[in-house]
Amino acid sequence: MSVLDIVFAPSEVLSKKALVVGNIDKAIKDLVNNMFDTMYENNGVGLAAPQINQSLQILVMDCSSKDNNYNSTVLINPKIIIKSEGFQVHEEGCLSFPNQYFEVKRPEFVKVNYLDIVGKRKEKIFNGFEAVCVQHEIDHLAGTLFTSHISRLKRHMILKKMQKFKKNLNKPI
Ligand code: NI
Repeated sequence: MSVLDIVFAPSEVLSKKALVVGNIDKAIKDLVNNMFDTMYENNGVGLAAPQINQSLQILVMDCSSKDNNYNSTVLINPKIIIKSEGFQVHEEGCLSFPNQYFEVKRPEFVKVNYLDIVGKRKEKIFNGFEAVCVQHEIDHLAGTLFTSHISRLKRHMILKKMQKFKKNLNKPI
């Protein structure tokens, strides 16, 4: 399996709606394994397929990695079917925005309908930090970035920082 390159914002693939997965074949299963490798290698707690330049409705997450207790989850074609009325505010980061962290307000819990890795339809309630993570990643599949949850001024500031970051990446040493 392999660690894939992360797409940094701003990028077109991060801003468009990802395609629904039809058949969960070997290529999709390999992609999911590579997404886990890429997420763990980068110390992430979640990763959506557009972040590795695949415009597909797939996300992987593991919110328990901080206590060395692996709880890897893959969600294919996920849809939020219930949102709580209550909200929580949590500091978020994103592998497509290195070193950018800020508070985002989201529903406290959500119920999600999705396909698992063998194509079985499931429903699950995500709470607490898992709810933060799953909502952040499902946003990615709609082309929505966590910067869309903050003020326009702050969003503009972060966009400028990211443009500078990407420009420096391409500079010869
Ligand atoms: Ni993200």
